[in-house]
Amino acid sequence: MSQKPSSPIGVFDSGYGGLTILKELVKTLPEYDYLYLGDNARAPYGTRSYDTVYKFTLECVRYLFDAGCQLVILACNTASAKALRTIQQHDLALIDPNRRVLGVIRPSAEAVGALTQTQSVGVLGTTGTVKSESYVIEIQKLFPHIHVLQQDCPMWVPLVENGEYDSLGADYFIQESLAKLFVQDAAIDTVILGCTHYPLLINKIRQFLPAGVCLVSQGEIVAHSLVDYLRRHPDIDEKCSKSRTRSFLTTDNNDIFDQHAAVFFGERVSSTQVSVTPRIVG
Ligand code: DGL
Repeated sequence: MSQKPSSPIGVFDSGYGGLTILKELVKTLPEYDYLYLGDNARAPYGTRSYDTVYKFTLECVRYLFDAGCQLVILACNTASAKALRTIQQHDLALIDPNRRVLGVIRPSAEAVGALTQTQSVGVLGTTGTVKSESYVIEIQKLFPHIHVLQQDCPMWVPLVENGEYDSLGADYFIQESLAKLFVQDAAIDTVILGCTHYPLLINKIRQFLPAGVCLVSQGEIVAHSLVDYLRRHPDIDEKCSKSRTRSFLTTDNNDIFDQHAAVFFGERVSSTQVSVTPRIVG
């Protein structure tokens, strides 16, 4: 009897940040197979244009589809903000209408309604995510009465990428971005960490956050949203293989990826370097 091909859940990020989401997915849904792809060679995405983020994200999604994934999660806020809608509404119909791509912004937007008392919510993210207004649009679609304030934190991803997340230098940039957020509205009582890199800075962010403010980190929210999604879509759930495998791909050097990944994922990984760009034949 021929073996059913593996169909892991694809988890995509521009680099390492999505590993903070994968960590929670594995904790919550351990029985599934997962295939992580970090586009480290082209990270960061946060400062890139719409067209570029869309092009890169689509190439990575196609790669994960070709690797057998029926379901791909964009575990990157910038990709979710700039590429998800076009991929869902345009590309999936052309590639394979039965496959699914999900993002991280909608589940986070859904969560804030039950958390805020003051109806004033802050969003911290990359410049690209903030400029896209995706959080404002998604939250106000669900909760029109909630006031959404945003602040980009252009130095936070480089701090994390350079291993400076626990340094004194990080304090300055964290305080600066938080001050710029709260000066917009002192009534903010809930703050979304709208970038998958930011959980690494969570201790420092908590240190400088005004007392009583609720901090929303996406990993658990995305994991519980996926549980709910798979329960509501048994046809997709059935297609996802469940042999508890975890595989890691990077578009840059795999030794470097493995050195950094443990900090984000919480355990050592062994990755493979791949190329996601279509080969030009001619
Ligand atoms: N992981 C990305 C996000 O969640 C941030 C890193 C980048 O700029 O590529 O937006």
